[in-house]
Amino acid sequence: MTRPSWAPEGIDLDRPSASRVYDYFVGGMHNFEIDRELAQMIEKFTPNVAETMRANRDLLRRCVRILTDAGIDQFLDLGSGIPTVGNVHEVAQARNPRARVVYVDIDPVAVAHSQAILDGNPLATVIHADMAQPDSILDDPEVKRLLDFERPIAVLLLGVLHFVPDEADPAGAVARLLEVCAPGSYVAITHATADGQPAEVLEAQKLSGRTSTEIVLRGHDEIATYFGDWTLLEPGLVQLPLWRPENPDEAVEAPERSGAYGGLARKD
Ligand SMILES: C[S@@+](CC[C@H](N)C(=O)[O-])C[C@H]1O[C@@H](n2cnc3c(N)ncnc32)[C@H](O)[C@@H]1O
Repeated sequence: MTRPSWAPEGIDLDRPSASRVYDYFVGGMHNFEIDRELAQMIEKFTPNVAETMRANRDLLRRCVRILTDAGIDQFLDLGSGIPTVGNVHEVAQARNPRARVVYVDIDPVAVAHSQAILDGNPLATVIHADMAQPDSILDDPEVKRLLDFERPIAVLLLGVLHFVPDEADPAGAVARLLEVCAPGSYVAITHATADGQPAEVLEAQKLSGRTSTEIVLRGHDEIATYFGDWTLLEPGLVQLPLWRPENPDEAVEAPERSGAYGGLARKD
């Protein structure tokens, strides 16, 4: 297929990507036929997957509102994805125009799109990096320019840790990022799980191996360890639809089977 103008040169057009599959599920326009085909195959095994991904995006927006209202004015968003409705800088800067945001993604398409929408926004930027290499992120000049780790900060790890295999030591990477944060900082994490899921979810998980970032499903207790000794805020680490739902009318039929956990914690 020919490369559309929005896709950077050098990307593999014959391989689906996690960020474009997610973009398709949350209703975005930056995905290829090969991504949509994979998304539809995944959906056959896990019919609620699009609902879960939208719940993830809702949780992201909710968290950023809560954190901005709590006085947080700097965000490090890891695995930020292709910009879509309700990006972190839009939600945060609508409430506090001085809010600073650094986006990080491993996918060149996500980075190129983020660069385009952030053009002219001096308080938000994007870097191309692997979250499993936290020191390369902490040492990045753009991170140093915009973020001050001596003050409280929000670290957002939404929908990304399940793309980091055990061999890449996701727990070590998160611990490194959290140790440099000042007291009063927050971390938000969402993560895919097989808990409460039918066996077919494992078929969907295998399909994700067609991208360069296969999903690793982890259980509640393992995901909870990523928060370290930070204090989990109410309601704890719970399936996504149960994390501070805003509109009771949107309650889903089986929230305990959403296939992903989410939580927000604070460094005391
Ligand atoms: C499902 S999207 C989540 C987007 C956004 N955080 C959200 O929750 O709406 C996951 C993103 O993580 C990125 N990603 C996967 N592995 C990564 C890694 N090791 N470092 C940085 N980004 C990564 C993918 O490219 C993708 O854009």
